[in-house]
Amino acid sequence: DDNYTHILTETKGKVGLITLNRPKALNALCSDLFTELNQALKSYDNNDNIGAVVITGSKKAFAAGADIKEMKDNTFIDTYKNNFLGHWAEMIDIKKPIIAAVNGYALGGGCELAMMCDIIYAGEKAVFGQPEIKLGVIPGAGGTQRLVKAVGKSKAMEMVLTGNVNLNATEALNLGLVSKVVPIDDLVDEAVKTAGVIASMSQPSVQMAKEAINKSFEVPLNAGLRWERIFFQTLFGTADQKEGMNAFAEKRAATFTNK
Ligand code: CAA
Repeated sequence: DDNYTHILTETKGKVGLITLNRPKALNALCSDLFTELNQALKSYDNNDNIGAVVITGSKKAFAAGADIKEMKDNTFIDTYKNNFLGHWAEMIDIKKPIIAAVNGYALGGGCELAMMCDIIYAGEKAVFGQPEIKLGVIPGAGGTQRLVKAVGKSKAMEMVLTGNVNLNATEALNLGLVSKVVPIDDLVDEAVKTAGVIASMSQPSVQMAKEAINKSFEVPLNAGLRWERIFFQTLFGTADQKEGMNAFAEKRAATFTNK
């Protein structure tokens, strides 16, 4: 419904669905694609009718990484001066939960994009890897940081240092990188279903829950616990807390108004 070149967007109830759409390049994440992705995410974040977002790719590739052909002639000075890949991190400020539905390759920046999302669902043939070392570089969008937290140091080192130790869907599930493995054809529907459940909750509580969990990656435990309690206390200022707790006491379903 929007004028994007490299992505498709559609809404499914209260869920925004973004499909990366550069099939000929296996959804290589060129700079313009990421700019469009950020625009679409921000527009969903500002849309009161949307409660959660799903990002997916094609059945062959979620995304095969940053666009190697686009960046191959970059110089150090260009990349440093222009803060190359810096704009990728804008999606970290999106308040609404984002689910990555990964079919096929999630390599390099593709794996990093998936890890910037809040939940990852994998199709049965998904492949996660960080092959940048084979290009003479290293992961540049979180692979050396988020992957460690997801799969532990030894596996992350093995993946990043060899570039050819990839995780299949089952391995990714067992290591905790993804939370569910789904048949390929059902993957997007399953992700949209979960996003729909999230979107049916009170948005202030959903967004504070996301922010609180993300604090656990950023600050020491005592500070994270303090953030959590303040968010919890804050939610008593919402009508939805009254509605949610009254509905429980009255044995009926809650109707949230996001206020
Ligand atoms: N950048 C640019 N183009 C890419 C690409 C990428 N990351 N990945 C694939 N493509 C292109 C190929 O060049 C090819 O284009 P042409 O048809 O014009 O030749 C097309 O997509 C199809 O790819 P293949 O023919 O290679 O498909 P395949 O099925 O034989 O192999 C693959 C699939 C194993 C994923 C292989 O394409 C591949 O290894 N891709 C590169 C993976 C990679 O190194 N990713 C890391 C990028 S660096 C990075 O991401 C930095 C960072 O941390 C942010």
